Amino acid sequence: MAEIENKAFEQDLIERGYSRRQMGKVAALLGAGAAALRVTGAMAQQAAKAVEGAVRIGANECWTGPFPVAAEAAFKLVQEGNRYEPNDEHAKLFAAVSSVEGIPADRITAWPGSSDPLSRVAVAYASPTRGIVTGNPTYEAIWRTGEWLGAKVTKVPLTKDYAHDVKAMLAADPNAGVYYICSPNNPSGTMTSLADIQWLADNKPKDAILVVDEAYIHWFDGPNAAKMAATRDDVLILRTFSKLFGMAGMRLGLTFSSPAIMEKMMRYDGGQVTAMLPMTAVACGTVSVTQADLIKARRAEMNANREMAVAHLKKKGIKVIPGSHANMFMVDWGKPAKEMQAALLAEKVQIGRNWPIWPNVSRVSVGSAEEMKAFCDAVDRVWKA
Ligand SMILES: Cc1ncc(COP(=O)(O)O)c(C=O)c1O
Repeated sequence: MAEIENKAFEQDLIERGYSRRQMGKVAALLGAGAAALRVTGAMAQQAAKAVEGAVRIGANECWTGPFPVAAEAAFKLVQEGNRYEPNDEHAKLFAAVSSVEGIPADRITAWPGSSDPLSRVAVAYASPTRGIVTGNPTYEAIWRTGEWLGAKVTKVPLTKDYAHDVKAMLAADPNAGVYYICSPNNPSGTMTSLADIQWLADNKPKDAILVVDEAYIHWFDGPNAAKMAATRDDVLILRTFSKLFGMAGMRLGLTFSSPAIMEKMMRYDGGQVTAMLPMTAVACGTVSVTQADLIKARRAEMNANREMAVAHLKKKGIKVIPGSHANMFMVDWGKPAKEMQAALLAEKVQIGRNWPIWPNVSRVSVGSAEEMKAFCDAVDRVWKA
């Protein structure tokens, strides 16, 4: 059972008549909330903090906002902001997502971004006795939640093709509570095949959960893992509107899973977080997901901007990790990435961080054509082989 770490608060609860068992519930509730807020939200916001006058290509945001037609839907809801839920906005979102993804609406849940469910699934399935297994490098939010929980976190290097090494992941901790796959992977943008994802789902312990984070899936024009959540009770898929849909500050994300998984994740707060979403974001998301042509066009534009920058770097003899299917790529400078990050920032170009396993490699997010040109020009000014 969870414990209250703050002794004064514990005393206060005792004086107010809480039993040990009830205090455990309070601790768990605070824990889940604190983990979600402290661990992931803060991290994303730090990365996205603006440096005045700089080109912002450090936090995998979209350089532009929602599709205009989706922004219009959000504005309509601003005008109806007097109502908690003017007209079944949740149901409309779930119906739209269900028709696009081919999964039942009762297996779709909406969140204020995907950071909360990412932390929450770790809280629900990992523990000091059941660890978390991830790739390396990968999105670190779940590592931090794991550390906070006191769960063993095992980080398994990507394969030579930069996919998650699913067999090595299972071998590294065969009794983990959570196996996390990020595909396309943040920070490399590389894919793990659906066959490998399915293999891990079939071979992990039955009571463990497989989490597949598809934050960047709209950059991959092929099969995704969503349908696994239509039939299985041990797989959670995460999506977000913060990336291709340009809604990072509006806060909207989705999970696809069985209702039983949701029940477990909502155990301590009765689903308050998912019930109280801003309707502007929900309406904006509903219109966004069905815009197949606009999604395709935005993806094509971002891919062209990415490939322009990659070609520029390669021409200079700078190594780029191949195979990105996302609005980011990794640059291997052959020297400390932090130095290049600082040098580019001095030129008013704010690129992303590096991961400890690859200290010479920076993550660069893809911005507009002008922003990527500014990045290339800044590299020309600071780069010495
Ligand atoms: C792989 C991945 N998952 C989840 C998130 C969380 O995003 P949000 O909470 O904005 O949905 C991010 C953000 O960068 C991410 O890269």
